Amino acid sequence: MPPDNSSAAQDTPAAENEPAAQGESATDSAAPSLDGHTILVTGGSGGIGRATALGLSALGANLAIVGRDRERTEAAASEIRELGQADVFVADLSSQAEVRRLAEEVLERLPRIDVLVNNAGGFWNTRHVTADGLERTFALNHLAPFLLTNLLLDRLLQSAPARIVTVSSSAHAGARIRFDDLQGERSYSGAQAYSQSKLANLLFTFELARTLPVSAVTANAVHPGVVQTSLGAADPRAMQRAFFPLMWPFMKSPTQGAATSIYVASAPELQFVTGEYFANNQPKESSRLSHDEAVAARLWRVSADLVGLPSA
Ligand SMILES: NC(=O)c1ccc[n+]([C@@H]2O[C@H](COP(=O)([O-])OP(=O)(O)OC[C@H]3O[C@@H](n4cnc5c(N)ncnc54)[C@H](OP(=O)(O)O)[C@@H]3O)[C@@H](O)[C@H]2O)c1
Repeated sequence: MPPDNSSAAQDTPAAENEPAAQGESATDSAAPSLDGHTILVTGGSGGIGRATALGLSALGANLAIVGRDRERTEAAASEIRELGQADVFVADLSSQAEVRRLAEEVLERLPRIDVLVNNAGGFWNTRHVTADGLERTFALNHLAPFLLTNLLLDRLLQSAPARIVTVSSSAHAGARIRFDDLQGERSYSGAQAYSQSKLANLLFTFELARTLPVSAVTANAVHPGVVQTSLGAADPRAMQRAFFPLMWPFMKSPTQGAATSIYVASAPELQFVTGEYFANNQPKESSRLSHDEAVAARLWRVSADLVGLPSA
């Protein structure tokens, strides 16, 4: 999608898409079996998340998908049920009360979680405020996976070996965490807010990886490529409107965009790999700042305060 392109000049759609443009299948014949695994995918009602859920279901996993709209989420679940089991959860993840309710429901209904895929996200050209009074990009793209993961952590640990896969973006490159204006109250740019949230995904993932025993739960992040989805469609940038139709043929399909999430969620050789960032099914170097432990620890404290979790 355009926000990712424009924020990371090196990410031309063609360059990003080359290795995955070999076919429409997000899985392959050498793929592992996920029989008996339960996988929770947020944003499973559309775009990359829906394709990720379908791909993981094709490998034998029992899927649980989260969407904010019941009809769209049920429609995605019906498609998944042609391949296997699919549970539906409905929650607006931009609201902390909804994330907490979702976590309670998940803990009630899913006795195990082998993989959590934090995929839901959004881009807004103009500043929006959530029910909690927070800037929406930061709330949905970072605070929601931060809170949900923390609330589900014990269940993931009980399900060991388990995996946390968080969908970041190459748009994180060049971003910084603006601790002095985290919510974009003084100045807001959609691209800046999005890039900051995707850097936050990496800082959170790497901090989890430093904290969690690798034999129990791994935490990795992915860049899906530049993908034909609805990201940013509700409040696009003028540039996005102008160039979107031209770029569309060079972008990955959602199935191709889901391939790296599926790989990181399922590959047996990654069972004990943690704290990595993947693109096109390969580890990729993320920005220097994404590895800054002081920034990660500060972001964790600030995020915990904002969602009402203990910061230790
Ligand atoms: N597309 C790209 O080129 C690209 C590139 C890099 C990274 N990414 C990342 O990939 C992830 C998936 O994005 P996408 O491109 O597939 O976008 P998308 O087509 O807009 O799908 C986003 C998904 O998240 C759900 N969602 C949005 N807001 C929500 C909310 N408040 N509560 C609960 N669910 C919500 C959507 O549900 P609805 O069905 O209700 O809309 C949908 O299922 C995002 O984290 C994005 O940052 C995308």
